[in-house]
Amino acid sequence: MNILVTGGAGFIGSHIARACLEAHHKVTVLDNLSAGSREAVPQGAAFYQMDLRDPEVLNVLKKEKIEAINHHAAQISVHQSVADPVFDANSNIIGTLQLLQNAVDCGVRKFVFASTGGAVYGEQDCFPAGEDHPCRPLTPYAIAKLCVEHYLAFYRRNFDLNYAVLRYSNVFGPGQNSHGEAGVVAIFCQRLNAGKPLVIFGDGGQTRDFISVQDVVKANLLALKPECLGTFNVGTGKETSVKALAESLVKLSGRNSKIEFAAPRHYEQRRSSIDYGKLNKSFGWKPELSLEEGLSETLDYFSNETH
Ligand SMILES: NC(=O)c1ccc[n+]([C@@H]2O[C@H](COP(=O)([O-])OP(=O)(O)OC[C@H]3O[C@@H](n4cnc5c(N)ncnc54)[C@H](O)[C@@H]3O)[C@@H](O)[C@H]2O)c1
Repeated sequence: MNILVTGGAGFIGSHIARACLEAHHKVTVLDNLSAGSREAVPQGAAFYQMDLRDPEVLNVLKKEKIEAINHHAAQISVHQSVADPVFDANSNIIGTLQLLQNAVDCGVRKFVFASTGGAVYGEQDCFPAGEDHPCRPLTPYAIAKLCVEHYLAFYRRNFDLNYAVLRYSNVFGPGQNSHGEAGVVAIFCQRLNAGKPLVIFGDGGQTRDFISVQDVVKANLLALKPECLGTFNVGTGKETSVKALAESLVKLSGRNSKIEFAAPRHYEQRRSSIDYGKLNKSFGWKPELSLEEGLSETLDYFSNETH
């Protein structure tokens, strides 16, 4: 299949582009390199340094005869979205809307969208949250992701665009960008290597559901199948506090960095974990890498000085 991976020069998208090439798909990467890097784009993928909003995107879809779009390009900083909601909406809503319009204009058959199970539900009534949990997003970043989910339903109803929404929990792993939702793992790894203290905002009791990028990639390969339609959580169902995460990383790294506490961020969600039962029942997906295995791999990646 001819697949466009947007954001394929970034953390998750570059892992997906590589896996798609390994699965013998023809891969085109589109990325404006605002956060990603050219080196992360795997060999064998065609590359276009282009913004989602560039009118030329339509010609790329036509030229590369794109059949499926795996959409990962986004401004990913929750903090930035709170500071500048218009900037966030321009990239994450308007950019995606233009891509969707181009997709239907070119007869694209499948659209996979990276949404956020870590943020669309907001403060949860139950743990882990299923896909039918009420959505009460707390930040512009999460509001924009949910807004795109509604646009997808519109394009499905009116233009027969098939889609799968993957609501990730907090994704971590080699190549991770420190600004994203699970950026805390990358930041802690970098600080451990530099011999600096790990700084936690708040009391460290806030919890997250950390999922490895390898498991997320497997979910994306399933999502490309024509029969995979609808909205699916991609997480582990387990809560880990940020304090426990910091302690695990200190232990696994063998370093003796201190853990320090700073003022909490007012918009930060307190607890999060999401139920992956639907994707498991439908397609047999389940997380395979334990948190400890994943963190060790990530520490190894960040301890390599060339990154
Ligand atoms: N990392 C997580 O924990 C997590 C959780 C839930 C959802 N997501 C979503 O997964 C996707 C990938 O996240 P990531 O962690 O790999 O982030 P990332 O920053 O590493 O990758 C995003 C890529 O998109 C590119 N980009 C940004 N705006 C663009 C635009 N307007 N046009 C073209 N390219 C643009 C960036 O240059 C970057 O390479 C994002 O949509 C993010 O919202 C991530």
